[in-house]
Amino acid sequence: MNAVVNLKWIEAANYEEMSKLAADMFKAELKHNPKMVLGLATGGTPEGFYKELVEAYQAGEISFEQAQSYNLDEYVGINPTNEASYHYYMDQNLFNHVDMKRENIHVPKGDTADLQAAAAHYDEMIEAAGGVDIQLLGIGINGHIGFNEPGTPFTLGTNVVELTESTRDANKIYFNSIDEVPTYAITMGIQTIMNAKKVVLLISGASKQEAMDRLRSGEVTEDFPASALHNHKDVTVIYTGVK
Ligand code: GLP
Repeated sequence: MNAVVNLKWIEAANYEEMSKLAADMFKAELKHNPKMVLGLATGGTPEGFYKELVEAYQAGEISFEQAQSYNLDEYVGINPTNEASYHYYMDQNLFNHVDMKRENIHVPKGDTADLQAAAAHYDEMIEAAGGVDIQLLGIGINGHIGFNEPGTPFTLGTNVVELTESTRDANKIYFNSIDEVPTYAITMGIQTIMNAKKVVLLISGASKQEAMDRLRSGEVTEDFPASALHNHKDVTVIYTGVK
């Protein structure tokens, strides 16, 4: 079977439409299954998606009261109150504005002494929750998903990774200087991501064209982490500003 046909491609007219289409998928699942397990991502790309979810919550359309969430990744060495942490990003963009219970919110712990134990425990918790129902993903310019950099074995669960210079450079806008960008991160592994029942990948903007082209080519290689998704049976790619 041609791997490329497994991915469902949806071109959105603009960033707002991309955000809305992705949010609609999560909203539909949440209405049908209030105990939904959400797999969440950070970065510039999903900001509009979170805005849509918050608006839907405020309009009384959806509730997160029984839902739980697992975020993809976190930097090592910074705590949740650090403004550059992914936990802080999630608080600002979603958690502070909706009714998800704090104990049901999970972001990998980047500020713990035993990172390996935290990583292993993360996968156990996801499994105990019954698995992620829909996993949201962005993509790095080098094809990384979560913080799984090129060369990562597809068989890995949540693990600790060293960030590439290109990733640190792309993320330096969230710090005072590149020297402050952590060198390590804790991330769901490719295997963890592949275990999600459904995946929604957002791609926005010309800087992602090369990654888009590689994904479209259908080649499956560990040199391009997002290509693992060709082996998943339910992936929707919603893209805008790329061809
Ligand atoms: C970071 C995150 C990824 C994210 C990627 C793209 O490296 N770890 O999860 O998908 O950046 O981010 P952006 O959407 O800002 O381009």
